[in-house]
Amino acid sequence: MNIIKNIHLLEKKIKELKKKKKVIGLVPTMGNLHNGHIKLILLAKKYVDIVIVSIFINPMQFNNLLDFKKYPKTFEQDCYILRKEKVEILFCPDIHEMYPHGLKNYTYVDVPKLSNIIEGRARPGHFIGVTTIICKLFNLVQPNFSFFGEKDYQQLLIVKKLVKELNYPIKIISLPTIRLENGLAFSSRNKHLNSLEQEKAPYLYKTIEHTCNVIIQNKGKKIPKTINISRQYLIKKGFYIDIFDVYNSKTLNPISKENKSIIILASVWLGNTRLIDNKKIILKN
Ligand code: PAF
Repeated sequence: MNIIKNIHLLEKKIKELKKKKKVIGLVPTMGNLHNGHIKLILLAKKYVDIVIVSIFINPMQFNNLLDFKKYPKTFEQDCYILRKEKVEILFCPDIHEMYPHGLKNYTYVDVPKLSNIIEGRARPGHFIGVTTIICKLFNLVQPNFSFFGEKDYQQLLIVKKLVKELNYPIKIISLPTIRLENGLAFSSRNKHLNSLEQEKAPYLYKTIEHTCNVIIQNKGKKIPKTINISRQYLIKKGFYIDIFDVYNSKTLNPISKENKSIIILASVWLGNTRLIDNKKIILKN
């Protein structure tokens, strides 16, 4: 595996690959790779000649310095996984390489409407950090395809909108959330859960699934009541809820009677760990 830390060397490599007409796929990550990332890499291999994985813990997308500092760093283990999966190139710049003048007054990219609601309201500035680093990575790597997990559903919609509105010639491919057997979504943050929290965490997805089933049984009626019961259940189980609600799955607006494709988005805390998850519901007439 070619490990590239330097932008200049990356640009040289990309030029070479483009000259050879290679189809390039980018899997952007913040490291601490888990099964979800591995599945993204395997998916990428089906679409492209060269898979480039980026590892960069992007300070701009953390609205909490402590969260940034304690983000798990497992570089050696990540390299081992990437080699095992036969990834061709790892791009892993340091902060100075990506933000040479620091973060203050840095040029940024914003997808305002989608970025200021739901998770974006709970974490001000988070999505500006995501869209800015994604644009930088897209500009540097110039991928034909880029791969994202559906667990970060709002992030996925924002990236798709950004690609469309800024005319990036990149196809965004998404992968359904990869879960442990108990239903808990793979996430780098799961590492922060203590053993009691690990036992409780699967209740999040169980509750989301149950809520979906009730909404379907009720044919989309009494949704506020159903959501409220689920929230109370999670609170009793020890979760602190930032977001647990139903949205239009295409616009993320509040739902109306006409919406048939809706989504439950959840963003909750278990102790000091933030967990997010979601599930789509298609309502029949
Ligand atoms: O989902 C993530 O891990 C990050 O938000 C991403 C897309 C790598 C940007 O830093």
